[in-house]
Amino acid sequence: MEVVIVAGPVEVGAFAAGRIAEIVAAKPEAVLGVATGSSPLETYRALAARRDAGLDLSRVSAFALDEYVGIAHDHPESYHAVVDREVVQPLGLDAARVRVPNGLAADLDAAADDYEAQIAAAGGVDVQLLGIGGNGHIGFNEPTSSLASRTRVKTLAPATREANARFFDSLDQVPMHCLTQGLGTILDAKRALLVAQGASKAHAIAQIVEGPVSSMWPGSVLQLHRHATIVIDEAAASELTLTDYYRYTVEHRGVVQPGA
Ligand code: GLP
Repeated sequence: MEVVIVAGPVEVGAFAAGRIAEIVAAKPEAVLGVATGSSPLETYRALAARRDAGLDLSRVSAFALDEYVGIAHDHPESYHAVVDREVVQPLGLDAARVRVPNGLAADLDAAADDYEAQIAAAGGVDVQLLGIGGNGHIGFNEPTSSLASRTRVKTLAPATREANARFFDSLDQVPMHCLTQGLGTILDAKRALLVAQGASKAHAIAQIVEGPVSSMWPGSVLQLHRHATIVIDEAAASELTLTDYYRYTVEHRGVVQPGA
């Protein structure tokens, strides 16, 4: 696991966007895994700036991590709408190549299986961008989610519904269920890039980076990923123990000298 600590939210976005841009430059038809929530917004802003500077994102495909169940796709807080507003439009993606789980399907289990099949048919996700909930969830994989889980229906934790109530008129309007990629699905992405900012994420970050791999802190499953990068600002890094080591590894990256 690579841990990169930068000054603040803008630098988090700039670093993550740089990583994604490198992948797209090498593979213009890359498959991106995109996340909702406030954490990745600076990354999308930085990617939009790179697009203005010439980065072509028109051939990438994208798969969203999750969607609420039972919310109209044109509801402004559905993840269909959020992904369109925050990702597809500003980055100039081809909407026909962007997928979000169908939380309105009559058969949600079939929709979940179909989503897995669509990701596989696209050749898998090249880079999965992730935020993290204060309780350690990634996607909507709440604590005690199976570390091997695939896309499926989940019940949102009360803490998650309360956190997301800010996007709705009242807590009652926050959906109770979602369709989310599983932790096993996320692990299948070729690269994982988790971004977090602010002191409210510091405890979750310490748990998933330095705690045991545990379904109690679902993001800790990234310790099992071969290419996971955690990009955080100083505030989100404030409960980590090995910060000097993370800075040291970043300083010495790319200068490996055999025999030295
Ligand atoms: C949401 C999303 C997650 C997101 C997390 C944190 O409910 N399903 O993908 O990472 O909660 O949200 P935020 O980035 O707004 O703090």
